[in-house]
Amino acid sequence: MSSLRSFVRHTAAGRLALIPFRLGWAWLQALKQAGRMASWAFTSKEYYNHTYHLTPLNRRYLAEFTAVVAGRPWQEIEGYCRELEEDRTLHDRLVAATLASPDRHNSDTEPRYGRRIGWYALVRALKPKVIVETGVDRGLGTVVIAAALKRNAAEGSPGRVYATDIIADCGHLFLPEYRDVGEIVLGDSVETLKKFSQPVDLFLHDSDHRPEYEWAEFLAIEHCLHPGSIVLSDNSQQSVMLAKFAEKTGRKFLYFQDQPDRHWWPGDGIGAAF
Ligand SMILES: C[S@@+](CC[C@H](N)C(=O)[O-])C[C@H]1O[C@@H](n2cnc3c(N)ncnc32)[C@H](O)[C@@H]1O
Repeated sequence: MSSLRSFVRHTAAGRLALIPFRLGWAWLQALKQAGRMASWAFTSKEYYNHTYHLTPLNRRYLAEFTAVVAGRPWQEIEGYCRELEEDRTLHDRLVAATLASPDRHNSDTEPRYGRRIGWYALVRALKPKVIVETGVDRGLGTVVIAAALKRNAAEGSPGRVYATDIIADCGHLFLPEYRDVGEIVLGDSVETLKKFSQPVDLFLHDSDHRPEYEWAEFLAIEHCLHPGSIVLSDNSQQSVMLAKFAEKTGRKFLYFQDQPDRHWWPGDGIGAAF
């Protein structure tokens, strides 16, 4: 046994003999991924802005990550995460809105919040008065943020979300029941941000994901930030811009990487400058 171990570890012939086994092991991973792709192609209708649940371990780490960014105990953040996951009213309204939407042919009916659970918990924990989210799309993130704001308001800490997009018919999931705590501002987000005049407690970049555009958004909103403002990016899995902005403005930077549960998509993430 020890001579076989020595053969594969310490000889060139051993290295060659291992190649078929190593290749088989790697191909097994590719086959698993191909299985997920085939299942997704027939069971999901989405082709962009993929939604997914997180693996249980990743979901736990999302709460831990959010706790660090919020400066709160993990147990408190976990409570907020569960609050969203157990909100049947929001869930059922989103299902109904998706089924009623012309978008139903490219949207999955089941709402899967993924990393947006972290956005929700952050809003619940910090009770921001003004939130700006760039990029609405269907409005899943906007409605999640608004749901947190409504709970905050019911507890005596009102706030408002301003969500920007260039597509006029965006936001069908940002339901009327949640629009009392927010609004969609149509137009190019950099132009909108330049004109914004209120102090922003929480800013979230999720629009045009070209790094230079992400950077332009950070510069455009900088005049509204205060030392306690938190800046999030939905683009940090592919761009270093928020880390650079954190450095520029004397903030710490942390990144959370999504791990989609049983989905081929490698996942997105949350960059946080705080
Ligand atoms: C990734 S989606 C937003 C996802 C959304 N935040 C969510 O939680 O599902 C990106 C959105 O940014 C919008 N967008 C792209 N370029 C933009 C720009 N220059 N200004 C404002 N919105 C823009 C797109 O129309 C699209 O709806």
